[in-house]
Amino acid sequence: MDWTAIAAPWLRVEAETDAAHAPVLEGLMARAGLQPGQSVLDIGPGGGVSLISAAQAVGVTGHVTGVEIAPPFADRARERVPDNVTVHVGDAAGFPFMGRSYDAAISMLGVMFFADPNKAFAHIRTALKPGAALSFACWGSPEANPWFSVPAEVADEVFGPGPVLDLDAPGPLSLSDPSKITRLLTAAGWSVEIDTQDLHLTPRGDPSEVAAMYMTVGAAAMRMGAAKAKGILTQEQRDAVRAGLEKVFAYMAEGDAVRIPAQVHYVRAIA
Ligand SMILES: C[S@@+](CC[C@H](N)C(=O)[O-])C[C@H]1O[C@@H](n2cnc3c(N)ncnc32)[C@H](O)[C@@H]1O
Repeated sequence: MDWTAIAAPWLRVEAETDAAHAPVLEGLMARAGLQPGQSVLDIGPGGGVSLISAAQAVGVTGHVTGVEIAPPFADRARERVPDNVTVHVGDAAGFPFMGRSYDAAISMLGVMFFADPNKAFAHIRTALKPGAALSFACWGSPEANPWFSVPAEVADEVFGPGPVLDLDAPGPLSLSDPSKITRLLTAAGWSVEIDTQDLHLTPRGDPSEVAAMYMTVGAAAMRMGAAKAKGILTQEQRDAVRAGLEKVFAYMAEGDAVRIPAQVHYVRAIA
């Protein structure tokens, strides 16, 4: 995946996606149990929201190191984080860690994209002290995560059938099967516990504002981007996608807010 290209639209809706994913981060931090003074690794921190939470948890006597593959995300994270955070640009799957030095590692939605996950998880283990925990959040089953399926279905209605979801390929749903997580991590030397939770994403705004976010990122935005690149995207198609998204998100409105059902695996793996 070309994360440098992907970063630009995601950074345009950073506040919106940070708000939407706040319950995921809250669950991750509650389970990671970071302590003051710890040295913590954050894998794929994106624009840095989890780095900020981890930095608060470890305090001024601790330190958080982010390893982020996309320079635009790393640059943005560096703007936001306090002094006890360092952000490196690099591939966590092969990053030159300084031996088994970290007290803990976290990742919010950042470990589903490795080309060779077995090798990557084995390599990350070499960065943690023996007995230290890697805590990460990844998306659960595709059926329980409409924030993927809704924009894809809306795009299919407008553009025709899109790419078939390949759960074996690197991508946001590549660790949706908990038995695959256990198999991969166990083979890489970790012991694993998985806590699967159904929750609600909390995007900001009304259905039309949530639709606007998913006009920028996600499956419908990608289909529109592909059509635009070929010079065949029409205003009618854009309007139809927006209307389709608004309609579905209106069904998920509770009062003034949209609450999108989601399923997350919280994984705790011991090095
Ligand atoms: C879905 S985003 C999540 C970003 C952030 N953790 C959040 O939840 O807001 C996935 C992140 O992982 C990063 N990433 C993907 N593969 C990576 C790798 N091999 N090493 C380091 N970072 C990676 C991406 O650039 C992106 O920032």
